[in-house]
Amino acid sequence: MLRFMSAGESHGECMVGILEGLPAGLNVDVGFINKELTRRQLGYGRGGRMKIEKDTVSILCGIKGKKTLGSPVAFSIKNKDFKINELPPISEPRPGHADLAGAIKYGFSDMRCVLERASARETVIRVAAGSICKILLREFGISIQSTRISVAGETNENMIKEKIDMARKQGDSLGGVFEVRAANVPVGLGSYVHYDRRLDARLGAALMSIPSIKAVEFGAGFQGASKPGSEVHDVILYSKAKGFYRQTNNAGGLEGGMSNGEIIVARCAMKPIATLGSPLPSVHIKTKKKVKASVQRSDISAVEAAGVIGESMMAIVIADAFLERFGSDDLKMIKKVYKLK
Ligand SMILES: Cc1cc2nc3c(=O)[nH]c(=O)nc-3n(C[C@H](O)[C@H](O)[C@H](O)COP(=O)(O)O)c2cc1C
Repeated sequence: MLRFMSAGESHGECMVGILEGLPAGLNVDVGFINKELTRRQLGYGRGGRMKIEKDTVSILCGIKGKKTLGSPVAFSIKNKDFKINELPPISEPRPGHADLAGAIKYGFSDMRCVLERASARETVIRVAAGSICKILLREFGISIQSTRISVAGETNENMIKEKIDMARKQGDSLGGVFEVRAANVPVGLGSYVHYDRRLDARLGAALMSIPSIKAVEFGAGFQGASKPGSEVHDVILYSKAKGFYRQTNNAGGLEGGMSNGEIIVARCAMKPIATLGSPLPSVHIKTKKKVKASVQRSDISAVEAAGVIGESMMAIVIADAFLERFGSDDLKMIKKVYKLK
């Protein structure tokens, strides 16, 4: 089983991750991890924090030379903006963020204690873990990419920039849609035999876990629900060169909770960023008087970055299902088993 855990607060000393379940013998290219971390920081509409941080990973354990040992791989990423103990308390919860429910749940009156961990800064560890999984999947020709489809319903690049500029001026924020695709995934990852082994369910949970993702669809998704079966299901074809393949890919590469050999296609809807420059009405956590929600340094829109995080979550789930199917101890052995498939 491939799994990861993270620790770290947004303005704490560093973010820490452990990725466990990698096979021995994988060459870990730290340069690639750092490139992926940089991609997470980019995109039009990002806030000041991304200009401060220059994320680079330090691998702490689990690797000898450049190769994995089969033991847990631990890594850290420093927060340049380390000032958690100097930041002022927050008493005005932001609608759309974890502030109020988190404060009630953990018994805080200072919502700084919530947002330090609820912040999407945590996703830097997902991207580091995901990029190691991408390195593993690359060994088998599997690649994962994302595209920003729209921001606030707009698809034209110049119009998107205009919308983001306007939102910034008005103290507002924007969400959008991105797509993640995994190519060359072999048939039969995941299983129909039990709900928690289904690849679609595992991918759905992983993508939904990205902060601010409110909907995930695979293939034809919601549109497929309004069409007849004859227009939705993908006709099965066969050729000697390709083996079994499909005329279309409305299933988004997933049937019966398994990969079917076609490209896996997921689309995710991201709600607008919760922090607004012109804040919404809220209620003071102690006085219970009407106030404006707190304003923190913030992105206006971060759909491209969320797409990079989506790639990582998809890479982690597909790598886990891949190792389940083809073995998980020794990369050389896995390659032998994979050739026999
Ligand atoms: C890449 C990325 C960047 C984000 N940046 C911010 C931000 O700067 N300010 C903010 O208030 N929320 C930001 N968010 C969204 C919050 O993390 C999210 O709205 C919050 O956790 C509540 O969302 P939830 O209800 O889905 O958990 C960002 C999310 C992602 C994925």
